[in-house]
Amino acid sequence: MGGRQSKTAVVGVPQTSLVKTDGKAERRKKFRSWRSAAPALDGNSINDAWRFAGNGKRIHNLKNSKLLAPLVDEEAERLRRQHRLYKRIWQNNFSAPVEEKLKSGGARVLDVGCGPGTWTIEMSEAYPLSSFIGVDFMPIFPQEKPENAKFIQANILDGLPFLDDTFDFVHMRLLVTAFTTTEWEQKVIPEIIRVTRQGGWVEFMESDIQYCNEGPTTARLTNSLMTIMKSKGFVTPINSYVPQSMEANEKFIKGIQTEEKSCFVGHWARELGQMAVDDITKGWSAVKSPMSTLMKVKSHEYDETVAIFAKEVEQYRTFFKTWRFFGQKAVTTSLSSSISTPSKWNEQEQQQEQQQ
Ligand SMILES: C[S@@+](CC[C@H](N)C(=O)[O-])C[C@H]1O[C@@H](n2cnc3c(N)ncnc32)[C@H](O)[C@@H]1O
Repeated sequence: MGGRQSKTAVVGVPQTSLVKTDGKAERRKKFRSWRSAAPALDGNSINDAWRFAGNGKRIHNLKNSKLLAPLVDEEAERLRRQHRLYKRIWQNNFSAPVEEKLKSGGARVLDVGCGPGTWTIEMSEAYPLSSFIGVDFMPIFPQEKPENAKFIQANILDGLPFLDDTFDFVHMRLLVTAFTTTEWEQKVIPEIIRVTRQGGWVEFMESDIQYCNEGPTTARLTNSLMTIMKSKGFVTPINSYVPQSMEANEKFIKGIQTEEKSCFVGHWARELGQMAVDDITKGWSAVKSPMSTLMKVKSHEYDETVAIFAKEVEQYRTFFKTWRFFGQKAVTTSLSSSISTPSKWNEQEQQQEQQQ
């Protein structure tokens, strides 16, 4: 799984003689074009990634997207708040053993499906000597960012616009529900591991769709969501599927690590529980369209169901689990592992391009 085929041109074939076309040249070209064609990052520019709904709200316009929560601005705000919730739950931004590398500087970090870039920005501020790139196919990137952070619009399913073995740490959070199992195994994991440098780390963070101590309304909502997810071919159950699929990729060193946290939901669990119930009720509202269709309820009835959920969690003392899965890319060649400083990064890219 995940092997990239190499093609070698044969002598006698017109236009090129003995040119190795292993895909790197194409990727470099694509990378360059991405860099020059990178969209403005102000989030206000005209962009065909979204269109306007009748009520003036922006809605994403991505034809191959399976996103369940399409409203651009509301979703960006929800994700910013959700970042604060997960920071509270985990008390940090990652689990992989990369802190020293990030601190000492020169590390390159990629955040795949970065959304509004809250994680990327916070990390770039915490580790100013390292470089951070957030990619998302919806350009809802922040207007202001530190110099060591940048954002690029890209769809991982079309391939990431980076060379092989580029990043010391690749992070992806809350995206498993964006991909089918086939996409996850054949595109997402291979693409992430391709751009990770040998010896670098990959980390995924995901949360359970199913709650513990579910009341009847919670069960009704989660069962409906599971039905939608299954119909779209999404990955379930996340906590066994993700580490197994990482383990199955021969480019990871064996022994994928998992960390688990539980988060109580509801005011009964004080401030964190309150943050969780706020986040989850907004999440339920964000997926109102497919959920109310499946549940065969009108818009206001769905809102009432979500309101009952918010009360029910207090009675049942509901909680959910969240996980981090992380693993290291195996070293298979004697590639130089020297990582340049961020200021040398562009220089290094130019040298690589000149060597073409
Ligand atoms: C639930 S949000 C998580 C955002 C961010 N990782 C966080 O934790 O705040 C999922 C994000 O993945 C992005 N996304 C989904 N499918 C994608 C794809 N194929 N390529 C790039 N981004 C994608 C969405 O646009 C959305 O911003």
